Amino acid sequence: MPQAPVQAKATTTTVAEAHPNIALVKYWGKQNRPGNYPATPSLSITLDTLTTRTEVNDATGGDEFFLDDEPKNDNKVSACLAALRTRYDIPPLCIRSANNFPTAAGLASSASGFAALVCAIDAHCELNLSKAELSANARQASGSAARSIFGGFVAMSEPDWTATELLGPDVWPLTTVIAITATQAKLTPSSEGMRISAATSPFYPAWITSTEEDFRQGIAHVMSQDFASLAELAEHSCLKMHGLMMSSQPGLVYWNAATLECIQVVRTLRADGLPVFFTVDAGPQVKAVCQPEVATIVAKALAAIPGVLRTMAARLGDGARVLAQVAER
Ligand code: PMV
Repeated sequence: MPQAPVQAKATTTTVAEAHPNIALVKYWGKQNRPGNYPATPSLSITLDTLTTRTEVNDATGGDEFFLDDEPKNDNKVSACLAALRTRYDIPPLCIRSANNFPTAAGLASSASGFAALVCAIDAHCELNLSKAELSANARQASGSAARSIFGGFVAMSEPDWTATELLGPDVWPLTTVIAITATQAKLTPSSEGMRISAATSPFYPAWITSTEEDFRQGIAHVMSQDFASLAELAEHSCLKMHGLMMSSQPGLVYWNAATLECIQVVRTLRADGLPVFFTVDAGPQVKAVCQPEVATIVAKALAAIPGVLRTMAARLGDGARVLAQVAER
């Protein structure tokens, strides 16, 4: 429903923050219709610690975008603004976004980035969007960004493909240890990779149907806080997605040697009785999700692997939010 046009206040800086999320039941592939709809449902956890902070001001000329203080021509940001302007009256904006973690390297910087951007624009331009509308607008820029509007455990599925919060961040407080194994941007962006997989992998139809069942089971395991079952399911969804990627033509291999070593170490720790499981997105970083009491042991084991540059730990975090609206002098 189009909203009444509202002009932004020219003298205000609006600051919003959002965190990345990592999917435990993955999405990979898009529906064949406009609006950037995922082809599969997904289930994620929103992290804290890793943060995108985005400031929005009115621009004097055209739109300007800075990422980590560098001016950028980012097609996805331009497309996001263009899509918002088809629905709302938004003046030229100066956007300054900063991540406290590596960008475009499989740490979901686009999820936190677009969730923070949509949230900041909503407040700056007084659009008064609901969380569902924020999620729908974020999804159009990046499928996983729809989930970072919410905190804790988050689901995204039909019929409307906006995310919803399943459990708040304090209800089942898991910890995620992230092993950084490379800091450069990935070679094949997610959207391109998804297009290649849908067009070429012989496994794609099975991926779509089986992920619907994974999603149903994932919701049940989260609602019953069944760690062991969630661990098996999340690793299965992750390996199935990477099998799909690898079976595409050209084959998409987002891992490096340290990624595989981390996976093996996490499996060994779990076989030894530690409540921990791994997941890996479209990049070489490994996320080890565990009960908080074993996080130090997990971090130590991952940090000792050759090729692991550093580890970071995050608990479950909140959804995207406005931090401040500051009037300029
Ligand atoms: O948010 P996108 O459209 O760049 O896709 C992200 C896809 C994965 O991170 C690999 C899986 C997921 O569900 O987040």
